[in-house]
Amino acid sequence: MNVNMPARIGSDIKIAADILQKGGLVGLPTETVYGLAALCTQPKAVAEVYHIKKRPLENPLILHSSSLEAARPWLSALSQDMEHLAAHFWPGPLTLLLPKAAHLDPQITAGLPRVALRIPAHPVAQALLQRLKVPVAAPSANLSGYLSPTCSAHVAEQLGPHIPYILEGGPSSIGLESSILGFEGKKAVLYRPGAVPKETLEQTLGTSLQQPQSSVWQAPGMQARHYAPRIPLHVGPTEKLLRQHRSENVGLLRFSKLYNALPTERQRLLSPSGDLQTAAARLFSALHELEKMKISCILAEPLPNTGLGRAINDRLCRAAASYTPPH
Ligand code: TXA
Ligand code: MG
Repeated sequence: MNVNMPARIGSDIKIAADILQKGGLVGLPTETVYGLAALCTQPKAVAEVYHIKKRPLENPLILHSSSLEAARPWLSALSQDMEHLAAHFWPGPLTLLLPKAAHLDPQITAGLPRVALRIPAHPVAQALLQRLKVPVAAPSANLSGYLSPTCSAHVAEQLGPHIPYILEGGPSSIGLESSILGFEGKKAVLYRPGAVPKETLEQTLGTSLQQPQSSVWQAPGMQARHYAPRIPLHVGPTEKLLRQHRSENVGLLRFSKLYNALPTERQRLLSPSGDLQTAAARLFSALHELEKMKISCILAEPLPNTGLGRAINDRLCRAAASYTPPH
């Protein structure tokens, strides 16, 4: 469906469900980031998701369901470890790579053998998914490679003219994408660090998580440049970066303390109290704000590399990877 009017933002679950059931797309609030949803049984709508996001066809989508039970018809049998993780973390910000049923639309998995599944906890997402009774395929609702949306206005900015409706769910409470976990044989592999800290996953599994072996697109959110603003971003200690960019008009992204020698209006703090959860929730909106300032680049200070800090640093480094100007 090609829509030229700007998207309506509203909180009517029935309107959203009707659009999806007729093969349209809807902006979907979740506790991590907003998604761009298509019903998984509507192949044309799923194709449209790739088209609107300008997403490479090799980069598969996450299936979202109201519960594991409601998603079972699209899965094949799960191992005990998978059942254990699902029971422990769902609904919540964990995506599991699971064996899929043969009839699942291959566009959703980009031809890969497993399907990514997540059960969001957000009450608006739950209400919609329970009404639909069928899962939706939903990547983050941003243009491919750019900053993820953590409120309905971010979705409207990037995709507004192309979708008829964005469900209002308020600012995403976590603000960072789900962690993605899968198994290679008995080995548990973390494909994307995210909203459930690695340490928490390891504690629940009772084993340490491995890095993905292959560099192919097992979880293309892991490709180098991703989650990036439209101006260059550099990561490192503030003093050092300021020396390197001394002739430029820069903006600063800092963890908890303002930097004295630069005007405060060109700085954004992630968490004045030094709290990683607050920092995660602020990350993308702070980057959206900085990108709109009249500055030539963003200098970002890395956070402590533990818990959620690990996922935040991962996003910052990917946003910084070899800048290419937007087309
Ligand atoms: O928190 C989230 O996960 C958000 C909200 C909307 O749920 N979604 C999200 O989707 O971040 P997206 O499309 O931006 O990132 C999904 C990641 C991609 O890196 C993709 O490659 C990986 O999941 N993925 C999806 N299906 C996969 C599969 N079958 N095998 C391996 N990786 C997969
Ligand atoms: Mg994304």
